Amino acid sequence: MENVSIPFAGDSLPPEVEKYFDQNGLWLRNKVAEDQLYFCWEEGRLKLKQENLPPLEINLQSQWNHHQEIYRHSPRRNEPFYKALKNPAQFHVFDATCGLMKDSLLMLFWGAKVTACERSPYLAALILDSLRFHQELANSWNNRFEFKLIDAKDELLSPQNVDIIYLDPMFEEHSEKALPSKNMQYARSLLGHPDLKDSLNLLELARKQNCQRVLVKRTRKAAPLKENPDFSYSGKNARYDCYLPLKNLDSL
Ligand SMILES: C[S@@+](CC[C@H](N)C(=O)[O-])C[C@H]1O[C@@H](n2cnc3c(N)ncnc32)[C@H](O)[C@@H]1O
Repeated sequence: MENVSIPFAGDSLPPEVEKYFDQNGLWLRNKVAEDQLYFCWEEGRLKLKQENLPPLEINLQSQWNHHQEIYRHSPRRNEPFYKALKNPAQFHVFDATCGLMKDSLLMLFWGAKVTACERSPYLAALILDSLRFHQELANSWNNRFEFKLIDAKDELLSPQNVDIIYLDPMFEEHSEKALPSKNMQYARSLLGHPDLKDSLNLLELARKQNCQRVLVKRTRKAAPLKENPDFSYSGKNARYDCYLPLKNLDSL
């Protein structure tokens, strides 16, 4: 596959870092005038920049430390995400919509094996940089994590041999009054408006896989991506709708 190009400005990358991105399918080319979003190299990290916004990077280590801290005294087995996964440590999850990797990281923290796809080369660059920078953490997962810069729909055309497929295709829409977070402002610039038809297509492809179930994350009050999920787990902010794969429907 040919490398995807993303704009880059400022101090040049160390050669080994440039090689790492190259090997992972990304080519950091010189920024041109119309590039509003671009990467730069600061403090040993690849950071995403946009005018009037602070630079964005993913810090997997601090999120991991946060999970360790909050789950130390209470395992939170009552969380709807945990319940929808049903003992994640037993399962191989295909995270079709990796985004900023927050949910993948939580599933890894809970012991799951995770294969994650992200189709935005900008988000992929942030994820890959964090995996590179927090290599010790990534090594501690003992090959339980694989990341692919790809449209999950392409992957789902062939058998994936996973237990659970997880979809979180849309960033929350915020009310006009609420100031969106830095991540959300970047997300809007990068990804535009959510495409319902595309998300439905992803769900249909996922349900054709020979897996145990497909989970779709929605905001608590949002309509299901597709009507009549087989079961749902609701929390304060999010809801996890579970759909059985289509092959299982005959035997219900
Ligand atoms: C709401 S975000 C996911 C957030 C993620 N769950 C997290 O914890 O950070 C949705 C992401 O899915 C990605 N996405 C949507 N459809 C996709 C597809 N068909 N293949 C790969 N990535 C996709 C978008 O590019 C976006 O980054």
